[in-house]
Amino acid sequence: MARMLAEKVIVVTGGTKGLGRATAAAAGREGARVVVGGRDEQAGRETVEEIRRSGSEAFFVRGDLRRVADCEALIAAAATHFGRLDGLVNYAGILPASPLTETTEDFFDSVFDLNFKAAFFCCRFAVSAMLKTGGGSIVNVGSTHAYGGDYDRAAYACSKGALLTLTKHIAINYARRHIRANWLTMGWVATPGELDHRRSEGRDLRWLEEVAAKVMPMGRLQTCEDNVPGILYLLSDQSSQVTGVELHVSGGYFPRGSVE
Ligand SMILES: NC(=O)c1ccc[n+]([C@@H]2O[C@H](COP(=O)([O-])OP(=O)(O)OC[C@H]3O[C@@H](n4cnc5c(N)ncnc54)[C@H](OP(=O)(O)O)[C@@H]3O)[C@@H](O)[C@H]2O)c1
Repeated sequence: MARMLAEKVIVVTGGTKGLGRATAAAAGREGARVVVGGRDEQAGRETVEEIRRSGSEAFFVRGDLRRVADCEALIAAAATHFGRLDGLVNYAGILPASPLTETTEDFFDSVFDLNFKAAFFCCRFAVSAMLKTGGGSIVNVGSTHAYGGDYDRAAYACSKGALLTLTKHIAINYARRHIRANWLTMGWVATPGELDHRRSEGRDLRWLEEVAAKVMPMGRLQTCEDNVPGILYLLSDQSSQVTGVELHVSGGYFPRGSVE
């Protein structure tokens, strides 16, 4: 059977952890050639080995995407090595908490530098590359917080809101050049980043599961596996007429305030 992403060249930012790693591995199983972005070399190697075991090509590009030069180098590595770029998944991000009234300038910058500025410049370089080879597909990993956000996620929510606007901007302005941009609202997943954040609050996986059972309309946390199929679909030619959509994989959940 033909594989969904056969021969496509796909960059995944944050391909070292959580949904980024799961997406990179699944794209490899679907025949994509994958460029894995991140800072953690050991984790990057593990993702690459997993992809190679499935018979696809992959390599890791180490970089701190808060630096625009590293965003450019990541995208350039795909175009130079494989001669083209067909897909970009912007997953790299952080989830720190701060209410609006306690947010400092440094905190704000740390959230926006990765969650929005890095994604913006990865899109900027990816669109330039895709224009040269006839199009492509960008998937920005979003959050329910983009639609207002919990009390303690002011900067985070706004960073994701800006990312949603960027997604629409690309969808509207580059459809004629066959570049698509879509948004996947990732549900609540016990990723390494989410677990670290909750541990810093003195909580653990069990707390997450108990709260999710109460507040999530469908009664549980989501998993990476819940989110991966939507991303693969949006990267693939099966969605060739789909752009500017918000695909919610959040079990029916939208924040209406604190989950306390
Ligand atoms: N977890 C959830 O419930 C949830 C829900 C909605 C949306 N999200 C979104 O998921 C994304 C990841 O969040 P998470 O904490 O859940 O994920 P995670 O699985 O812990 O992964 C975070 C990823 O970001 C990369 N990263 C962090 N700082 C970086 C930097 N300066 N430069 C390059 N890469 C960097 C990490 O790579 P290295 O460690 O290799 O640097 C890692 O691969 C964010 O965009 C977040 O908005 C998460």
